[in-house]
Amino acid sequence: MPLLTIQGLPGPPLAVPAGTTVLAAIHAAGHDWLHACGAKGRCTTCRVRVLAGAECLALPTEPELRYRAAGRLAPAERLACQARIT
Ligand code: FES
Repeated sequence: MPLLTIQGLPGPPLAVPAGTTVLAAIHAAGHDWLHACGAKGRCTTCRVRVLAGAECLALPTEPELRYRAAGRLAPAERLACQARIT
């Protein structure tokens, strides 16, 4: 099972079933994470910067591509509510 490490969150790396979004994994571990639009890909408040293991995430979704094109999401950033672990 893939392991997810979020800098700044206490505790060990999170064991995450494939297909889970980064946001769902964080919430399942009992951590709070901002998600103002309710995880619908409409706000960017859930963004994360991927420092390693980007190849373990599914390709960016349409909302992520739209925010990138608008300059509101850097190439190394993903929306936690959209990024699924593969
Ligand atoms: S929670 Fe709004 S874009 Fe992810």
